[in-house]
Amino acid sequence: MPTTRGRCLRLQRVAAICIAGLASHSLHFEGSFAAVNKIPKKVDAGALAQHGEDFCNELKHRGFAIVGFDLTKRRDALDWLESLAGKEDLQLANCGLQPGQARHETVSFPRPLQRLDLIPSDAAIEDTGAAAAVHLARELHNLSVSCLMAVARHENMPELLDLVAETPEPLHAAKEPSFLRANIYAGQDSAGPCWHLDLGLLTVAPAGSWPALMASPFHEAVGETAFLEELLDPDRDVLVFAGTALAVATAGRYTGLVHGVSAGRLKQTGTRVSMPYFLRPRSGAVLHKPVFSDEGLAYLYPAAVQPAGGAAVQPTLNGMLDLLRFHRDLYGRLCTRGQVVPMSVFSKPELQEKVRHGFYL
Ligand SMILES: [Fe+2]
Repeated sequence: MPTTRGRCLRLQRVAAICIAGLASHSLHFEGSFAAVNKIPKKVDAGALAQHGEDFCNELKHRGFAIVGFDLTKRRDALDWLESLAGKEDLQLANCGLQPGQARHETVSFPRPLQRLDLIPSDAAIEDTGAAAAVHLARELHNLSVSCLMAVARHENMPELLDLVAETPEPLHAAKEPSFLRANIYAGQDSAGPCWHLDLGLLTVAPAGSWPALMASPFHEAVGETAFLEELLDPDRDVLVFAGTALAVATAGRYTGLVHGVSAGRLKQTGTRVSMPYFLRPRSGAVLHKPVFSDEGLAYLYPAAVQPAGGAAVQPTLNGMLDLLRFHRDLYGRLCTRGQVVPMSVFSKPELQEKVRHGFYL
């Protein structure tokens, strides 16, 4: 049973972490608008190889990038997904989707919604709606890898590409595989924006049914609107932003986008569907310390993703940072009030101690 003194100490520690995060945040984002214009600079997918620098600057300094890309199946996928609203007992097999390829669930916390997760696949699917959604997953997967290649080239970090599975992992074969997640909101909502960071390397998000995705106001260089989907041509653009894995893999050169969904907009209108694709490190991936990393962050490496099924990554003598747990229980949690916490905050002694005590494999 925690004592009152124990609770006070814990509160003091959390407050210290938040203050440290906010202080570092001010330092980190000072001058961000000097690096990017107020109007986001769009880069076409076909030009990522030649103009990767523009893309990476947007990702680093604004917090997200807009990539021009013809989404041939977005509208068909959206129509199908919107038609699934309220179908809690959806039979995936009737849509031609196999268990390792698709997963449907209804959740009530922190807000009521249905989720349909789809891994990209080349398999032929008879149901035209389901086929459009899987096709979209494949398009977004390929685009997300092209975006990661641009980062790897620009940062001279080819090892980033080794973190991604060569062929997408089935849903039951990995703890947190790469997949497209359709969020189907029912139109009633009392939760707040639920600020969070995504876990993975990159999130590639086409426009949903209508704009409700927001960047945290702590991202000072976002631009003229925090409703990021308003910046997109719905069938020709996607948003790209980083998550915890890329922040760790680049020792904080890239900071994850803290984002949420406007509860006010969810209440104003009917069903909304969003369809982000999450590019994540594969099972067993090991993130090594980049050569340019500040020595104060060296203790975070190597960071690892444990394979599903208990086959542990071989720990080093000093242990390895458990990337998934670090994201869920510490780094991600620091962002739940919208704070933008740069990796540099983890060089502080109080956070070093916390990480060493709780987040190693
Ligand atoms: Fe998210």
